[in-house]
Amino acid sequence: MSGARPLPTVINVTSVLPRPAAAPEPVARPRHYLMCRPAHFEVRYAINPWMRPGEPVDRGRALAQWEALRQTYLDLGHRVDLIDPVPGLPDMVYAANGATVVGGTVLGARFRHAERRAEAAEYGAWFTAAGYPVVEPEFVNEGEGDLLVVGDVLLAGYGFRTDPRAHAEVAAVLGREVVPLRLVDPRFYHLDTAVAVLDDATIAWLPAAFDAASQDVLRARFPDAVVAHPADAAVLGLNAVSDGRHVVLPAQATGLAAALSERGYTPVPVDLSELLRGGGGPKCCTLEVRP
Ligand code: ARG
Repeated sequence: MSGARPLPTVINVTSVLPRPAAAPEPVARPRHYLMCRPAHFEVRYAINPWMRPGEPVDRGRALAQWEALRQTYLDLGHRVDLIDPVPGLPDMVYAANGATVVGGTVLGARFRHAERRAEAAEYGAWFTAAGYPVVEPEFVNEGEGDLLVVGDVLLAGYGFRTDPRAHAEVAAVLGREVVPLRLVDPRFYHLDTAVAVLDDATIAWLPAAFDAASQDVLRARFPDAVVAHPADAAVLGLNAVSDGRHVVLPAQATGLAAALSERGYTPVPVDLSELLRGGGGPKCCTLEVRP
């Protein structure tokens, strides 16, 4: 032997300190979700660029993928309630659009397209039966598709679906500051395709999905945001559901998953490829019921 002493164990600093030293560990909070089984899912009309009515949909596969998403939430310790799917409403699986619930108050949805309009009453009736007060909206708002709660504020997307006149209504009904953000890329037609809420103070987002003024607003409010790579956004990677620590996101968004890990979050990839044919991912299939 050369007599050299064993090398001291080298600690890989990047893996031990993945977040800025001051950033706290992400903490999970148990959530309550509402979901709708894709029993009648199909793509027979096109109201966003992802939908191709000529291409067949494998409903059995959609059901299995959706079931795996539901099981993922249960495994993470969350509560999942179910609303009955209605024949003739194939997009009802995208529960996020059904309402916005903050502090136990439900602001009902009002859909832009005739094909989805009847969903609003179904979701409203579910909340009424569950004992929640439901406020009927005057203006078009597509629920959590365009209204995202980040801590005390509501980010409000417009440009494709939700009517900007809904913003004052949302603020009055839900009692939160509303931050309007203009979406400009039709692939990212709902805010929840361009912004993922990671915790009460942090988002991930795709700047190019917004006009310049809205980009400035988001940069000023969220200087520590995770900026998504366009390739991850292009598989709807930002259509993610976080409990504050675990981020359930499309499995195809591998770059975003890596970026989230570096920041201390735990990515939980799920494959919802069949539901992507309707233009949705995990977040679209999930409506949060906030107490
Ligand atoms: N086909 C549905 C639509 O275009 C998809 C909705 C997706 N939901 C969402 N929260 N982004 O309206």
